[in-house]
Amino acid sequence: MQRVEGKVCIITGAASGVGREDALLLASEGAKVVLTDLNEEAGRQVAAEIGEHALFIRQDIASEADWQNVIKLTLERFGRLDVLVNNAAILALGSIEDTSLELWQKVQRINSEGYFLGCKYGVQAMKETGGGSIINMSSVAALGGMPLFCAYSASKGAVAAMSRSIALHCKQQGYRIRCNTVHPDGINTPMTQALTGGQAIPQETLDQDPLNRMCAPRDIANLVLFLASDESRFINGSELRVDNAQLISGL
Ligand SMILES: NC(=O)c1ccc[n+]([C@@H]2O[C@H](COP(=O)([O-])OP(=O)(O)OC[C@H]3O[C@@H](n4cnc5c(N)ncnc54)[C@H](O)[C@@H]3O)[C@@H](O)[C@H]2O)c1
Repeated sequence: MQRVEGKVCIITGAASGVGREDALLLASEGAKVVLTDLNEEAGRQVAAEIGEHALFIRQDIASEADWQNVIKLTLERFGRLDVLVNNAAILALGSIEDTSLELWQKVQRINSEGYFLGCKYGVQAMKETGGGSIINMSSVAALGGMPLFCAYSASKGAVAAMSRSIALHCKQQGYRIRCNTVHPDGINTPMTQALTGGQAIPQETLDQDPLNRMCAPRDIANLVLFLASDESRFINGSELRVDNAQLISGL
């Protein structure tokens, strides 16, 4: 028996970085995976790599119509929804002093509203078939203070607070839907590579430094797999850091 055998999972942002790794790992453990992304070409490539148990759907997570379409096509193809990994997001550099209202609104629309829509339609689908697991990608930016990521931190904080609300609501309603957040520090993906001029540094090089803050996408996917599986059936409303003690290092 594989760890998520037969579970139907939606993973947003599955064309790149962590989402790609989530999709590959969940599929390798028996899941049927729906991959979504704005990047059609790369998303289709990942789905093709997985094979018949994968479906790629182009989606802008900030669009309500796109969410309705993703849920509809998922149910048509696989008949149910067990796991939703809200993973797609954008990073925006800027302190409170140099973040424009336009940038702030763009970040909240994708990183916060996009997750709200996913959870809203995800809960609706999951409660029909007896429950599920929602995994929302947040960040240590939601827990600590990151002066250069003002709008991004706020969006990730909103995701964490919303997720606690969802977890309790679903528990009180008896839906058997769990909702947890994952809080990484740095992950070695195109998102962070863009901050250093698009240069990819091999993970083995990074790992030589015991103080290294950049984990591999697989380090996050391993936790996502656990949260997607029934092994984590009592973990609900939790905020799970993947940061090698970085957040507490200032104490
Ligand atoms: N990389 C890090 O250091 C880091 C740290 C903490 C948290 N996170 C979080 O982890 C998650 C994955 O990040 P990553 O590093 O793999 O990033 P990434 O940039 O490699 O991948 C993000 C994917 O999301 C897609 N995307 C962006 N906007 C979209 C939209 N509106 N609709 C649909 N798809 C969209 C992109 O096309 C891309 O394929 C994000 O939620 C991010 O905030 C990343």
